[in-house]
Amino acid sequence: MRTIVHNNVTVGENGHLFFAGMDTTELAEAYGTPVILIDEDRVRARIREYRDTLRACIGESSMPLFASKALSFKELYRIVASEGVGTDIVSPGELYTAVCAGFPMERAFFHGNNKTDADIAYAIQNGIGYFVVDNPEELDAIDTEAGRAGIRQKILLRITPGIDPHTHQKISTGGVDSKFGSAIETGLAERITRMALDKENIELCGFHCHIGSQIFEIEPFVLAADIMIGFLADMRDKLGFTASVLNLGGGIGVRYVESDPEISVTQNVKAICDHVRATCEKHGVTLPTVYMEPGRSIVADAGMTLYTVGSVKEIEGFKNYVSIDGGMTDNPRYTLYQSAYTVLLANRADEPADALYTVGGRCCESGDIIQENVSLPHPERGDLLAVLVTGAYNYSMASNYNRVTRPPVVLLRNGESRLAVRRERFEDLVACDI
Ligand code: LLP
Repeated sequence: MRTIVHNNVTVGENGHLFFAGMDTTELAEAYGTPVILIDEDRVRARIREYRDTLRACIGESSMPLFASKALSFKELYRIVASEGVGTDIVSPGELYTAVCAGFPMERAFFHGNNKTDADIAYAIQNGIGYFVVDNPEELDAIDTEAGRAGIRQKILLRITPGIDPHTHQKISTGGVDSKFGSAIETGLAERITRMALDKENIELCGFHCHIGSQIFEIEPFVLAADIMIGFLADMRDKLGFTASVLNLGGGIGVRYVESDPEISVTQNVKAICDHVRATCEKHGVTLPTVYMEPGRSIVADAGMTLYTVGSVKEIEGFKNYVSIDGGMTDNPRYTLYQSAYTVLLANRADEPADALYTVGGRCCESGDIIQENVSLPHPERGDLLAVLVTGAYNYSMASNYNRVTRPPVVLLRNGESRLAVRRERFEDLVACDI
């Protein structure tokens, strides 16, 4: 069977696009458009790849912490919890969603470079497992709040290893000049470690780093692991502190278009873990529990967005536009990062393309583009247009610009579909208006 970019995307004998074994035209009929489909079997399979490889290579306590900034809604936290792994949350809103879903908070890690006192208090009240502490001011605030609550709060320190993983600048976070974490190079990493060890209400468990996102090469991860384990050895030698946790962050890349490389999560994670093991041995460092924080590589290729084509505009000698009933409000990634996407007509997926089209959204903004110059078979009003690999950073980055309602999220599992997030209604748009 013909697959497109990923093996959960196929073309049926009726010429329709199938996703996770289901006819997308039937799903569009049942749920309306735009709609975000999530292949739950794929999400679970990816979580298990991370979980089982980490456990086998490092030990039973190691696991992935799903970076829920990539995709966040209650049912997804339940899915993550049911696979026995943890989650990375980055705001009190994500924390609230996880709490509402009954997520085991001891497996939740609270990130962010600017947690407010209220965020910290809220997280402690809800029994957050770990804070990943970004800076000295935050360390003080957590110590104070933990003291007030009468607990000793577990933390990791976010360290910037000083690596540029050759990715898009806006999503690269591991360099010395990053707004995140404490740099080894400037000495702040060591200072904040000393400070954390001196705090009465803080239990320092180890260190975290995250070097960036959508990284196809293995070298930057290996280099980051080298630097972090070197730092672990240094802190042991200088401060007598043995870290029991090393969190290597997320960032493994995902194939969006046929020209992107195919990435094996299992192979990548195994290569990183083998390197961690060998490097710990080299430095005589006790092998810590290893966490990773994948977001994109868990959910991206589990997603597809369906739209209905509205107007088709052929500007002779210039450009052809296809307008759809969604756009930057549900997928701002082309507007923000010029991200590549694979676009097809889902109801005529077997027809040959006749020309290049620019897919535009419905916002009153010329930058509202999903993709430029994609080959399509002469789209017409009423056709169903599919954008592939939209599971990560689409729904989670969606907005109500122009008071456009956000699409529903539908989970697909074992040939069945169920609503996980309903379509927004006009009443939702005015819910906060006085
Ligand atoms: N851990 C930390 C601390 C992070 O900052 C991130 C992503 C992750 C884990 C997950 O990284 P992933 O495995 O998903 O690459 N909005 C951008 C992506 C921003 C990523 C921010 N941090 C995009 O749409 O490409």
